[in-house]
Amino acid sequence: MTNNILEFKDVWKTYAMGSEKINALSGLSMKLKEGSFKAVMGPSGSGKSTFLHVAGILDTPSRGIFKIKGKEPGELSVKEQAKLRRNEIGFIFQRFNLMSQLSALENVILPMIEENTKKAKEILNNMGLEGKYDKFPGQLSGGEQQRVAIARALANDPSIILADEPTGELDTKNASLIMQILQDLNKKEGVSIVVVTHNPASASFADEIIRMSDGKIVNGGT
Ligand SMILES: Nc1ncnc2c1ncn2[C@@H]1O[C@H](COP(=O)(O)OP(=O)(O)OP(=O)(O)O)[C@@H](O)[C@H]1O
Ligand SMILES: [Mg+2]
Repeated sequence: MTNNILEFKDVWKTYAMGSEKINALSGLSMKLKEGSFKAVMGPSGSGKSTFLHVAGILDTPSRGIFKIKGKEPGELSVKEQAKLRRNEIGFIFQRFNLMSQLSALENVILPMIEENTKKAKEILNNMGLEGKYDKFPGQLSGGEQQRVAIARALANDPSIILADEPTGELDTKNASLIMQILQDLNKKEGVSIVVVTHNPASASFADEIIRMSDGKIVNGGT
């Protein structure tokens, strides 16, 4: 039995750009213990989003070994990969990525494996969004939209949340509110969390900062 929720061993991701090849990941290795809360920092282009996309089974490595909860997505069928993604992973993006024609409540219900309106309302309440169920994303502030996005990420009780610059579009006050919510989810519910951020104030909520450079982890991540 392993208590590593994520495991990367010498993972490469290579993109072909015409005749040129770009290594977005170049031999990345790391382990993430269940219950961890890590921030990932590094220069633009260092592979942070690519790392997160592989971790979230939104992208596949060109080579190397990647496991989530001891399973190698590359060895599973597309259907099994989708199931693993839906059951275990919650994704949060910089630009919220909510469905603009659906209400806050409908956005949270949408990914549910079993539709559960009561549960969706409870999660929204926990995000301080009581009374906002019927608002459309365009009628909510940036901070509120990101809280709906967190609620959506929690719809299927994921064991890990992966967030790519979740505070990038927010002011200082809303950024720290979002990070506080993530910290509470980690400490009180035991959800593992990886947050990519350029913002040292946001990163300081995590238990450890992992530093990336040139497609590799150069500090932390063991
Ligand atoms: N689909 C793609 N096709 C070609 N190159 C790509 C693709 N996706 C990423 N890259 C390249 O891979 C490298 C890493 O990109 P990535 O988006 O992971 O960086 P990042 O650390 O998230 O950067 P930022 O901080 O700007 O978001 C960059 O050089 C990028 O141009
Ligand atoms: Mg990025």
